[in-house]
Amino acid sequence: MALIEVSDLRKSFGDVAAVDGISFDVDEGTIFGFLGPNGAGKTTTIRILVTLSRQTSGSAVVAGIDVASDPMGVRSAVGYAAQATGIDRDLTGRENLILQGRLHGMTRTAAADEAELILDVISLSDSADRRAGTYSGGMARRLDLAQALIHRPTVLFLDEPTTGLDPQNRHALWTYLHDLNRDGMTIFLTTQYLEEADELVDNLAIIDHGKIVVEGTPADLKRGVGGDSVSLSLRADGSDGDLDAIAAAMRELSDINSVKVLDRSVVVYLEDGGGRIAEIVRAVDRAGVRVGRLELAEPSLDQVFLKHTGTRLRAEEVKPQSRMSRMRKRV
Ligand SMILES: Nc1ncnc2c1ncn2[C@@H]1O[C@H](COP(=O)(O)OP(=O)(O)O)[C@@H](O)[C@H]1O
Ligand SMILES: [Mg+2]
Repeated sequence: MALIEVSDLRKSFGDVAAVDGISFDVDEGTIFGFLGPNGAGKTTTIRILVTLSRQTSGSAVVAGIDVASDPMGVRSAVGYAAQATGIDRDLTGRENLILQGRLHGMTRTAAADEAELILDVISLSDSADRRAGTYSGGMARRLDLAQALIHRPTVLFLDEPTTGLDPQNRHALWTYLHDLNRDGMTIFLTTQYLEEADELVDNLAIIDHGKIVVEGTPADLKRGVGGDSVSLSLRADGSDGDLDAIAAAMRELSDINSVKVLDRSVVVYLEDGGGRIAEIVRAVDRAGVRVGRLELAEPSLDQVFLKHTGTRLRAEEVKPQSRMSRMRKRV
């Protein structure tokens, strides 16, 4: 069953078509990823789905409820962690969670009980009674996520949940999201990180300039790239380099998909690259050409993105500190 159904959704800001006619479904119990560069329209989409913004046209149904006709109904079914954290620095972690539970109509006792539980799950029990302003970037991010969960939503919306986190905290968060999903929660997240999409999601859509350019499971999308790639690079000092000779030797191999000549390397696309390394090395040797480095890569989302948008996706690295300084009181 589709828990989110989006049909020809559009949102314009003046002349800017931030979201330009997108359609997709998210099945119950899955993790869906919205992958795209800055300015692609990810936040605009998520804000419409959680009813903080009204679409210009098109429709969106979340947990069976139309976002435009019953926004309050949608709000009780969703949890949302915005791109900038929404925690109150002057309150403790525990107080933040209880406040959020109260805002969702929980009794004080119910909110306190749930807070106790979640604090343990996100490993913040020991710091629960410290002011959130003293938390590290990773701790603040985990608390932010907990706030979105306190009322046990059916669908969780996360806008770039790990931007600004160091790799260790990022992986810890992925594990936690996997656990929530395993317990049945449907998760919609946006990200600029290819690795994150690859690791976390069941299905993903790549969004660029307000349009979905391709959608599918990470595995299917990668299969569409055209096989494994073996790149043969020239030596760093540039000696003995003859890319054309390398490319010619590769084209003589049987059963390859394509050969691409780049600036300082030749890339061969083929199936089962790992099983054919020896054959490739022999061909290079036979041709009498010298190669500085040989690299095998399975198809990656990086290559998927490149293929469908013509550019590479480079996530901006944000230091945890700058995220902390962006924290604002919830109004
Ligand atoms: N409130 C707004 N007013 C005007 N333009 C906006 C507003 N919000 C977003 N935009 C524009 O819409 C486009 C998509 O933005 P956004 O959804 O924030 O992208 P993303 O989250 O993928 O980085 C961008 O060109 C952005 O400048
Ligand atoms: Mg955004």
